[in-house]
Amino acid sequence: NYYAILMAGGVGSRFWPVSKNDFPKQFHDMLGTGETLIQKTFGRLSKLIPSENILILTNEKYNDLVLEQLPEVTERQVLLEPAMRNTAPCILYASMKIQKENPDAVMIVAPSDHWIEDEDTFINDVNECFEACEKTDILVTLGIKPTFPNTGYGYIKFEKECEDAIKKVAQFTEKPDYETAKKFLITKSYLWNAGIFIWSAKSIVSAFEKYQDEMTALFRKGIDDYNTDGEQAFIDENYPKAENISIDYAILENAPNVYVLPVSFDWNDLGTWGSLHAKLEKDHNDNAVVNAKTLLIEASNNIIRTSSKDKIVVVDGLSDYIIVDKDDVLIIYPKKKEQDIKKIRNEVKDIFGEH
Ligand code: GDD
Ligand code: MG
Repeated sequence: NYYAILMAGGVGSRFWPVSKNDFPKQFHDMLGTGETLIQKTFGRLSKLIPSENILILTNEKYNDLVLEQLPEVTERQVLLEPAMRNTAPCILYASMKIQKENPDAVMIVAPSDHWIEDEDTFINDVNECFEACEKTDILVTLGIKPTFPNTGYGYIKFEKECEDAIKKVAQFTEKPDYETAKKFLITKSYLWNAGIFIWSAKSIVSAFEKYQDEMTALFRKGIDDYNTDGEQAFIDENYPKAENISIDYAILENAPNVYVLPVSFDWNDLGTWGSLHAKLEKDHNDNAVVNAKTLLIEASNNIIRTSSKDKIVVVDGLSDYIIVDKDDVLIIYPKKKEQDIKKIRNEVKDIFGEH
């Protein structure tokens, strides 16, 4: 009865110029391990779930990339979105489809671009959640111990007195502002939302019914078509009508039956060049190099990546920089401004066109 929804429809624009609209980061070997992020994630999930029960949700323009990179996946397993509508619509669509195939299904919903090294702990934790969700009508999140006031994450306040491993959530706050995040951190009763969820198809669909009735009615209209030849035509016509909203705002901030399992495995959402730098091997001056031959003189704490492993990069007198070369773009950008790369990419687009 176990299923997975693997979300692979984002653009990852803070990893520009490597991550691009037509080739986002989940399809790149960001860590230089020989495997792309989606391949790594798929491998991790196949240790938990029969691979035919793993559905990949992505934009229609990435269909070929998915099939090419995951040869064990059949076309039936790739659900194609005709428009980008964030995570709530794609989760609802996939959950209804799974529920129709198997009313007792329990699933994990996971992003395709995270780094988790300790796979055994991950698998044990998720199995524990699966068992709980089979028995009870709960929506389970995985909680990470926060280390700094990151404003890009969801924050989970859990009931401290609760002795069970999976704890009731008192409050879920998606992407607080900096001051609020700082306050949350000081109280020590908050965890970061890892963005990985476990629930039964029944529980999540009924939560959507309560908190997103319009969206639920929209996708319910196609129920007879799901898992038949008519499915894609229904989706192509109706999916773009769904509200653009993430699962965090749509459901988790509202539902009373949200729970959290505080986890102990190391987790990194690989959201920016800096978070990637933290996970790469570094030289004694903390420079991380992927795909380049380097001569580094007075250089420290940089991340250097080129499009060819034979490219020679010489750096002298530069620290804390992102130096990335991809096709016809080269950026030399301060690490501390990594969040602005999204904006810079758009500026470049306005001046020079899509690159
Ligand atoms: N299929 C599909 N379609 N996938 C999508 C879409 C879409 O329209 N939009 C985003 N995704 C995928 C992304 O590729 C990513 O793997 C995942 O869904 C989460 O989207 P992000 O855009 O990366 O979300 P976020 O990082 O802002 O926030 C979420 O993750 C944080 C942890 O990394 C939230 O759940 C936060 O609460 C959480 O802390
Ligand atoms: Mg993210």
